Amino acid sequence: MKLTLVAQQASVRLASGKVVEAWTFNGRVPGPPIRARRGDLVEVTLVNRDIDDGVTAHWHGVDVPNAEDGVAGVTQDAVRPGARYRYRFRVDQEGSFWYHSHQVGSEQVRRGLCGPLTLLPRTPSSTRELDVPVVTHLFTGSFAIGADDTLQHRAVAPATTVRLRLVNTDDTPRRYVLAGTPFRVAAIDGTELNAPPPIENQTLELGGGARYDVTFTMPPTPVRLQVVDAPAGIVFSANGSGDVAATDSRVLFDPSSYGSPKATRLGSMARFDRRFRLVITRKPGFFDGRPGLQWAVNGEIYPRTPMFMVSTGDLVKMEIDNRTNSFHPMHLHGHHMLVLSRNGRPVRGSPWWVDTLNVRPKEQYEVAFLADNPGLWMDHCHNLQHAAKGLTMHVVYKGITTPFEAGEASGNHPE
Ligand code: C2O
Ligand code: CU
Repeated sequence: MKLTLVAQQASVRLASGKVVEAWTFNGRVPGPPIRARRGDLVEVTLVNRDIDDGVTAHWHGVDVPNAEDGVAGVTQDAVRPGARYRYRFRVDQEGSFWYHSHQVGSEQVRRGLCGPLTLLPRTPSSTRELDVPVVTHLFTGSFAIGADDTLQHRAVAPATTVRLRLVNTDDTPRRYVLAGTPFRVAAIDGTELNAPPPIENQTLELGGGARYDVTFTMPPTPVRLQVVDAPAGIVFSANGSGDVAATDSRVLFDPSSYGSPKATRLGSMARFDRRFRLVITRKPGFFDGRPGLQWAVNGEIYPRTPMFMVSTGDLVKMEIDNRTNSFHPMHLHGHHMLVLSRNGRPVRGSPWWVDTLNVRPKEQYEVAFLADNPGLWMDHCHNLQHAAKGLTMHVVYKGITTPFEAGEASGNHPE
């Protein structure tokens, strides 16, 4: 799979007719869908046409080798206007991901430098399937699915298997409802759930950066996906017309008790080689020389936030304790984390793997991951406004250093 992504400013017309001044890949928002199969070599050439601060491409949720991770100041220098950069990785996962710039991420992602990334099984499935990336994004004042800020209609033959790949590219959590059919949450953050049962009338809440795959068999009657509190939605029906009401059920889908338990590649987890604690609080202090109420991790303000050191092969347990009144979608690069417990209660359903965990106000989690991908990895809040204000840490393997630098002198600003 070869592709060129050109980062460029563009005026983009949304379906309603409204024009947004966006920063785009290839002149469109979201950027072009990237689809590859397990085993494929993905080769992406990133060209920066006119984004002054420079850009990168980060493959969110794909556990690529560290050098391909696309983080300015950590794994490369930002690609300056007129310059280009080549990414190369072999696909070893299947599921729903996305890509976005990781240079001044808090501004560049918001302006549109992101797109869907779908990794498919080695061989195409033989059944009739409709596969729809549902990338939701808030442009200045307009909320859209893809570039459509209206209620869309799509014709789908009854009995078709439909997979909606929900991607929340925004900083804040987003809620989605699916009306007109029972459905399953088939996957979270690119990992299939074990034995997901059909559910109905449950609202799905995705934290910033998260993905849920929702599957259903198209009935003869209309089905509607609706983004809660937004005009954007999709009505699926046999002939492309008709509708069905979709209201927020207020019953939140709970991944911690959904599906069936199953052994994981982490084994029994009888012992952990390392334990980390990540306590998020607010405290007065200075950030970037300015006084105010700052995000603190373990009592420290960035850049004094922790560097978690691991060795290859370590089984790591991490506790996340959010003592604030804000949502913090915590994202670890290069690894997937198995959620063990929430608020002291063990996960009872399917193994629940995440790369971006929607930590809600005052919640506590225990997660585990295997240190099997050497490098220097970011671990940060995917509310990128928070990350830019210091909710950023690193997981670093012993003996690994980087020749790249972040900060004013280098021009690299990952967040
Ligand atoms: Cu989606 Cu560090 O990013
Ligand atoms: Cu946050």
